Amino acid sequence: MRLDKFLADMGAGTRSQIKEAVRRGRVTVNGSPVSKADVKVSDTDVILFDGRQVTYTAMEYYMLYKPAGVLSASRDRKAPTVLDLITDKKRKDLFPVGRLDKDTEGLLLISNDGELAHRLLSPKHHVSKVYFARVDGMITEEMRKKFAEGITIDEEFQALPAEMKILRANESESEAELTIYEGKFHQVKRMFESVGLTVTYLKRLSMGSLLLDETLGKGGFRPLSEKELECLRNDAFDTAEET
Ligand code: URA
Repeated sequence: MRLDKFLADMGAGTRSQIKEAVRRGRVTVNGSPVSKADVKVSDTDVILFDGRQVTYTAMEYYMLYKPAGVLSASRDRKAPTVLDLITDKKRKDLFPVGRLDKDTEGLLLISNDGELAHRLLSPKHHVSKVYFARVDGMITEEMRKKFAEGITIDEEFQALPAEMKILRANESESEAELTIYEGKFHQVKRMFESVGLTVTYLKRLSMGSLLLDETLGKGGFRPLSEKELECLRNDAFDTAEET
């Protein structure tokens, strides 16, 4: 792999920043400063950037269209897991970024990037998650307002304000798009339960700027594009932290 790609993948800067750093002699390979950013390096080379060693971990990022009936876990003796669906994975350390219930469908990110996962899931970083929900009764404007204010589920869980777009509302069945900024256990189902409604179908449509690619079909997956990954990193790293 080229030295500049190696350093860029490990978050040392943009390709042009790295070229400049190499030109200035800030990068050494096996103890010697290099002058060209396009020299080839391998994982046995010792690479120092400003005197600090940079080691390579290949990161993988997949978008999975999770079907119902599959567990959001890495491994399970009895039931199929989302990782069983990622058939061309190169690494064994992949995990689902967050959990969807067994009966929930839709967007699930699969990766081995722990830092990005943590930031996408932490309520501190306010990364949005949008769900399509079908429920067994009438969604009202009053419920929309309650969700927008931050509904109290129980003594232990006060949900952050959530935005609800009512798509269809009937006495027997309603549909809505709900945007939440955290991911507590059964969160969407519990939010609707607290206003007396049962979720009968749930699908995640997006996480931050990452949109479910419907063309994948249920059970389909693909690696994220560079653009998707860059936008997702921006979602996770650029949001203001709560103090
Ligand atoms: N909220 C839920 O209730 N279930 C999910 O799978 C995801 C969010």
